[in-house]
Amino acid sequence: MMNKRTVLAIAAACLGVLFYASCTKSCTKLSFTQSTMKPWFDKYCLSCHGTGKSNASEWKYDPEDYTCTIKNNIDNIYNQVYVNKKMPPSSVTAADLAAFKAWYDAGAPAQ
Ligand code: HEC
Repeated sequence: MMNKRTVLAIAAACLGVLFYASCTKSCTKLSFTQSTMKPWFDKYCLSCHGTGKSNASEWKYDPEDYTCTIKNNIDNIYNQVYVNKKMPPSSVTAADLAAFKAWYDAGAPAQ
């Protein structure tokens, strides 16, 4: 017969394995390759928000990590770019603003 402590230890080990598996899965990086918007973000945002750039601490843009940098911040990005028009600090052409809105309305896809 296993004592209570052994049973608890086994249960804790199982939970640990499950937690590790779910974490490594959700931490898999997804590349941002959408044909219109990858060049768009590179053109308008990369110079200040790219890895190691001056404003990466306010918001980081990393096309190799779509989930953390774009998807998880999409409401803020939408507000900055389309609602308040604060980002980028320079202006966006009407065609590029329309492209951004269309992409956002389509669910801001990574590909
Ligand atoms: C010329 C540099 C520059 C460029 C280009 C630029 N930003 Fe910014 N960004 C800043 C600065 C400075 C701040 C911090 C001050 C502020 O919030 O106004 C900032 C802040 C932000 C924030 C955080 C705002 C908050 O309050 O949470 C987001 C999101 C953002 N930028 C998105 C973008 C996006 C998207 C683009 C491209 C379309 C972009 N930025 C282009 C300089 C830039």
